[in-house]
Amino acid sequence: MTFLPLRGLPDRAVSAAARTWLEALDSALADPSADRALLCRRTLADLSYPEYASNWDTAVEDPKLPLGTRLALASLDPRNVTLEPEYYAECDDERFQRVKPLLWLWYSFDRTPLGGQNVWLGVALRRLLAPRIFKRCGENFKAFQHVEFSFGYNMEVGDNVVVHRHVLLDDRGGIRLGNNVSISDYANIYSHTHSIVDPREVTNVQTVICDGVRITYHATILAGVHVAEQGMVGAMAVATGDVRPYHVHVGIPAKSVRVKPNAPDHDVVLRTSRRQPDPDQPGGED
Ligand SMILES: CC(C)(COP(=O)(O)OP(=O)(O)OC[C@H]1O[C@@H](n2cnc3c(N)ncnc32)[C@H](O)[C@@H]1OP(=O)(O)O)[C@@H](O)C(=O)NCCC(=O)NCCS
Repeated sequence: MTFLPLRGLPDRAVSAAARTWLEALDSALADPSADRALLCRRTLADLSYPEYASNWDTAVEDPKLPLGTRLALASLDPRNVTLEPEYYAECDDERFQRVKPLLWLWYSFDRTPLGGQNVWLGVALRRLLAPRIFKRCGENFKAFQHVEFSFGYNMEVGDNVVVHRHVLLDDRGGIRLGNNVSISDYANIYSHTHSIVDPREVTNVQTVICDGVRITYHATILAGVHVAEQGMVGAMAVATGDVRPYHVHVGIPAKSVRVKPNAPDHDVVLRTSRRQPDPDQPGGED
């Protein structure tokens, strides 16, 4: 969990250039008629292949250039790549094509020398993109590098949410993150599952992570799980069932090992949770 305020850039000129770059992108994206694919391609060309940024159209066709270079240039345009969600039967193509250029820009930025682990600029860029990708995005959203989504458009995100590096947010069936949620490094949150008989049979179901929840390092939350307010899922846990308010679940399948001492009326929560184990919910047993 990050407690320090986000540190700015020490060099004023670089900081000013970064802000100007972000402002230009923000105002271009604010135009509802903007060609997002073109914007994504131009932005990535500036960052990755500046020598071809002004003559991209002729360069991709230029037989004198190595084919690999031409393909790499072509792939800066999201219309020239396919993303995994485009192979999902339930993908709403119209909605996905609208957000795809922004997802491609997000993922591709993270692989540039400018992006990668460049925290301040990366967080600021993702703050521009997230509200235009998600169904809902609250204030102060903070995402570190290499976060991945399925559709993106099925994400509902509250205020002050932090998503750390290398997190997978599979929003096929929808993911709702409440306010002040923290998702630690390498966590996975799913909202789809496959039949054990026929893997082509997919069930999509919304996964809900309520206010103040912490999903810690490398934890996995399976589709449809409801992690109630202030709950916590420990490192490496696999939450297969619901987590009650203020409970800390660990292990595979994740089970409650304690109630947080700041639970309102901690003793009552503890007694209630002991009296009512839910055998149908593997993660709900104590
Ligand atoms: C879940 C967690 C917070 C529990 O911490 P805690 O309340 O201090 O719990 P304890 O360390 O006293 O452990 C309680 C019991 O659960 C076990 N346990 C704790 N974390 C576990 C985990 N991730 N997986 C399996 N068992 C775990 C302990 O071994 C202990 O078992 P025991 O009673 O048989 O000895 C912590 O272990 C964890 O996973 N932290 C992840 C790192 C973190 O805090 N990230 C926050 C970033 S947002």
